[in-house]
Amino acid sequence: MYIPLPGEELQLGVGPEKGAEYLGIGQVVRDAVLKRTDLPSTGSVLDIGCGSGRMARQFVDHLKPRGRYVGMEIQKRFVDWCNENIAPVNPAFEFYHQDIYNGGYSPEGKVKASEYRFPFEDGSFDVIILYSVFTHLLPEDAGNYLREISRLLKPGGHCYSTWYLMTPDVEVSYLLPNAKEGQVGFGFPACAAALDEAGLHADGFQPGRWNGARTDIWQDLLWLRRTEDVPEPLRPAEIATARETGDEPFVAGTLERLDPVSGTLTVLGDDGSRTEVGYARETPVRVHGAPGALSDLRPGQRVRAHYAETPSGKVAVKVAASGQLAPEQVRGIVEAVDSEANLLTLTVLNRGSLSFRMDPEREAANVDGRNIRLGELSVGQVAAVRVVPTVGSVAARSPASGDNG
Ligand SMILES: C[S@@+](CC[C@H](N)C(=O)[O-])C[C@H]1O[C@@H](n2cnc3c(N)ncnc32)[C@H](O)[C@@H]1O
Repeated sequence: MYIPLPGEELQLGVGPEKGAEYLGIGQVVRDAVLKRTDLPSTGSVLDIGCGSGRMARQFVDHLKPRGRYVGMEIQKRFVDWCNENIAPVNPAFEFYHQDIYNGGYSPEGKVKASEYRFPFEDGSFDVIILYSVFTHLLPEDAGNYLREISRLLKPGGHCYSTWYLMTPDVEVSYLLPNAKEGQVGFGFPACAAALDEAGLHADGFQPGRWNGARTDIWQDLLWLRRTEDVPEPLRPAEIATARETGDEPFVAGTLERLDPVSGTLTVLGDDGSRTEVGYARETPVRVHGAPGALSDLRPGQRVRAHYAETPSGKVAVKVAASGQLAPEQVRGIVEAVDSEANLLTLTVLNRGSLSFRMDPEREAANVDGRNIRLGELSVGQVAAVRVVPTVGSVAARSPASGDNG
C-alpha cells in the first residue's frame, strides 16, 4: 500500500534521518517487534509519540483492518499528516492529538504528561512502542507513562522502548542544558526502580550506537513487560554489563586525568580501579556519539577507552565520552553554509573543519560583534558560535536556545 513520504520538515521533526534512512528506522523497529512479539495480523499496537508515522507506516501491510494501530502524539501537525496519509490506507489505523506540554516540542500544551491518562481501557494493547520518547520526558512524566503502559498492556504484551541509559550513579541527566526535555538520560537503577514502581519489568536490552555499540539504532532499547509476565527481570548490573560489551577490550569509568605530556588518560573504573591508557594525537574520539577531539575531554566525564595491548602498555584505539559539558565559544573561518541541512561549517585552528547545527530562525553567529543568522553568513568570514555538545551532534546556540530533536 502506497503512503507518500512526509515533507522534509516532518521527517526531520522526529530525528536527523530523511529519505531512505527515515524509512529504514521504521523498518528496523517493525522487524524487531514482529520478531519478538508474534503480533497477530489482528493484534493491537499503541505508538506513543508516533511523530510523522515513521513506525506506523511500516505496519500497514502487517495489520488487517480488524487489527488496531493507534498513534498518539503531542504535535498536531504530525497527527494531521498521519490522519490524512496513513489512516485512509488501512482502517486499522487511528491517530490522536494529546494536548500535552513539552518544553521542547509543545510549549503551548495544556496538560502535564505526569497527569495524563490515555483514553483506553486496561489491557487494550498487545504491543506498545515508544521510540525516542522517554528521552524527551522528565522523570515524573516518565513515571506516569510507565504506569500507563503497565495498565494498557494486555497480559503477555510487550513494550518496545528506547532510552539513554546512563552510568549507575546518575539518577537523571539533562544532556541539553537549555531545554530540559531536549535530551534526557536516566541511570539504570533509577530506571529499574521506576519500572518496579509501575508494575513493569525489563526482559530485554540492546545497547545503542550512542554507547559505541554496533547495533541498528542510536538509543538503548529496553523491552518491557508487565511484572507478572517476567518473574526474572533484567537488573541494572546486567544491563550495565550488556551495555559495555564491545569487540575490543576497554576500560570504562570516569576520566580522572588527561596528561598531554606523557599522552596518557587515567580512567577511574566503576569498581574503583585506576587504569592508564596511552593515546596518540590521531586517536579517534567521540563525544556524545559525534566526532570530537582529545581537547574536548574533561576530567569528570564518563569515558570508555578501547585499547590494544602493546609492549609499552595499553594504547587507546578509540575513546568515547559522555556526560554534561559546559557550553563553549568556538571561533573560526566560515567554510560552508548549508541552509538546507541548517549546518554551519567552520575551519577552526588546530581542530580542522567543525560543523554545527543551527536553527536559522533563532540562532546566530557572532561576526565583528554582530549577530548574523545562518542564511546571511558568507564563506571566509570570521565567526564565533556558542556551542553546546549534545547527544549525537554539536549544536550552535548563539544567542538563543532550542531543542535539537
Ligand atoms: C524524537 S521524536 C520520535 C517520533 C517517533 N517515535 C519516531 O521515531 O519517528 C519524539 C516524539 O515524541 C513526541 N512527544 C514528546 N513528548 C511526548 C509526550 N509526553 N507524549 C507523547 N508524545 C510526546 C514529540 O512530539 C515527538 O514527535
